[in-house]
Amino acid sequence: MSGTARKVGDWQNVLVDVEDKIAWVTLNRPAKRNAMSPALNDDMVDVLNTLEVDADVGVVVLTGAGESFTAGMDLREYFRALDHLPYIQQVHGRRSAWVWQWRMLASYSKPTIAMVNGWCFGGGFTPLVGCDLAIAAEEAHFGLSEINWGIIPGGNVTRSVVQTMRHRDAMYYIMTGKTFDGKKAAEMGLVNQAVPLAKLRETTRELAVELLGKNPAVLNAAKQAVRSTQGMSWELSDEYLMAKSHQSRFLDTENGRAKGLKQFLDEKSFRPGLGAYKRDE
Ligand code: COA
Repeated sequence: MSGTARKVGDWQNVLVDVEDKIAWVTLNRPAKRNAMSPALNDDMVDVLNTLEVDADVGVVVLTGAGESFTAGMDLREYFRALDHLPYIQQVHGRRSAWVWQWRMLASYSKPTIAMVNGWCFGGGFTPLVGCDLAIAAEEAHFGLSEINWGIIPGGNVTRSVVQTMRHRDAMYYIMTGKTFDGKKAAEMGLVNQAVPLAKLRETTRELAVELLGKNPAVLNAAKQAVRSTQGMSWELSDEYLMAKSHQSRFLDTENGRAKGLKQFLDEKSFRPGLGAYKRDE
């Protein structure tokens, strides 16, 4: 591990630093609490496309500048500014939001971690849940504030919440718009873990390093399988997983399965129950 940070790209609304194969992607409109404008969403589509093919990136972390993760969709630029346009132009102006927040993250070929450092409202829940894993600061505040200003949580926010939170919790927070902190988010399963803000980056880095130690082709297949089997019958899921398993062996250029078996059964150099096989440098 080099420990040298490298700035990637030159986006107006997003900062990207790559260090030790971890891409730290920072939504960067702190004065607007990192509200997601169409321009920011356009940047994020480009950022995710760029990082996906960057061989020096193994894990992507999504976070926000300043005291916010994101205050959700930009009420001025994403809603009011587009509202008066013909419908097709509204759809066009809003498309990049769902492209990155949901579709790209859902099918992203590298592991993604949301690092929630502060305010997280409304539309912010979609990329939060879109990331594979999430760690929050205990001090962070979350809120499904849509009800407070007269809309329902669209942009797949409701779907994201229902997928991760218990039914009663989803109903409660969608219907009241009350805020909750990082600890509560972890308790409800919205994030994997909540830690003090002072430890947030280090804890996230440790998780990213853990993921970097795994076989990337298999990691990609494993996370896609988690998403894809939801909603399948057991019969279909069994067929799919068998096919996916064969596919990942075919796509795995480092031939991890054979290495793992050899290192455990023949060389007795590792225990699969306790960690990953040794990958070539
Ligand atoms: N859309 C557009 N602008 C936003 C915004 C959003 N979602 N959230 C914050 N901003 C802007 C404010 O308008 C303000 O801009 P200004 O300085 O030009 O007046 C600036 O960011 C700072 O906001 P402010 O409310 O003064 O900050 P705060 O620290 O006191 O409060 C929040 C932070 C996040 C609690 C508050 O800004 C807020 O409630 N934002 C809206 C959250 C929301 O409902 N999002 C759901 C969208 S679907």
